[in-house]
Amino acid sequence: MGISRVLVTGGAGFIGSNLVDRLLAEGVDVDVVDNLVTGSLSNLSSARAQNTARFSFHKLDVCDVALEEFVGKKRPDVIMHLAAQIDVRSSKVDPYYDAKVNLLGSIRVLEAARKAGVTKVVYAASGGALYGDLAEVPTTEDCEFAPISPYGISKATVLQYLKLYRDLYDVEYTALAMANVYGPRQDPNGESAVISIFGSAMMKGDDVQIYGDGKQTRDFLYVDDAVDAFIKAMDLGGGLTINVGTSQETTVMELFDEMAMQIGYTKKPHFAPARAGEILRSALDIRRARDHLGWEPWTSLRNGLSSTIEWMRDS
Ligand SMILES: NC(=O)c1ccc[n+]([C@@H]2O[C@H](COP(=O)([O-])OP(=O)(O)OC[C@H]3O[C@@H](n4cnc5c(N)ncnc54)[C@H](O)[C@@H]3O)[C@@H](O)[C@H]2O)c1
Repeated sequence: MGISRVLVTGGAGFIGSNLVDRLLAEGVDVDVVDNLVTGSLSNLSSARAQNTARFSFHKLDVCDVALEEFVGKKRPDVIMHLAAQIDVRSSKVDPYYDAKVNLLGSIRVLEAARKAGVTKVVYAASGGALYGDLAEVPTTEDCEFAPISPYGISKATVLQYLKLYRDLYDVEYTALAMANVYGPRQDPNGESAVISIFGSAMMKGDDVQIYGDGKQTRDFLYVDDAVDAFIKAMDLGGGLTINVGTSQETTVMELFDEMAMQIGYTKKPHFAPARAGEILRSALDIRRARDHLGWEPWTSLRNGLSSTIEWMRDS
């Protein structure tokens, strides 16, 4: 399919803005919709500076009915839907807001796509939030969904809407169930971005807090690799939820040690009680991504951390 125009929701955020830069580099015209609740225009400064004719930004809430008119006017070939309330803990405090943005906002995006005849929606799903704690690790997409937060439920429910809109209205989709993504532009003030939280504390010489014994594992994926999966999913992987991770489990303690070594941080971590509801092991099986997207990650954790730390030092 010849794709010349893509709409990115949440394009002023961490993953979205990295995706925007890559799309522009691929020669695709890009429109961003974002209400800037966590994203920022500074994330889009290079896109704005270099591509005045091929790039536009629109401050808009994805829940707003005006999105439908906007998509009808722009007529993108593909919508990359990343706008979301991303904080798992906030979703427990305010499940109504989480469902409004993550579920109703996604339905708005699908309605806009249907009415404007958009060919495909690529959705930012969440591997960690879908499969819960009982899954075999690394976890395949066939594992039963067992979300343990309102965020996980919203994200899982959108997958059913995507399938329905494909069956009823021929709006194609691919849902990318991402692992823990890290890299430049991730907000250290968020609750869950462990790498930017550790990095920011270590660079200031502050104490670093680890919840639990540090043996819990996560699958850390560098943002350029995540973005590459979105690019491949513009054409491939129709009708599928596809895990996007590394298949590798890294303990929080291993992460701490590697970051401390690269930053030159010599303090020991402080251990605090484990947080309720936190899953102990997480890593995603990525065979489906290899088979259907021809995708696999190419960035080692060491190299990804080094690029992230360099960015944190410069910003
Ligand atoms: N970061 C990760 O590790 C990870 C893992 C799995 C899935 N995801 C998913 O990837 C997507 C992007 O996450 P991120 O880490 O870049 O987060 P982010 O907070 O940096 O990006 C989300 C963007 O959406 C925007 N937004 C929020 N509510 C909106 C609304 N109602 N209308 C319009 N814009 C709105 C925010 O301003 C922000 O720019 C999210 O859908 C998230 O659930 C992220």
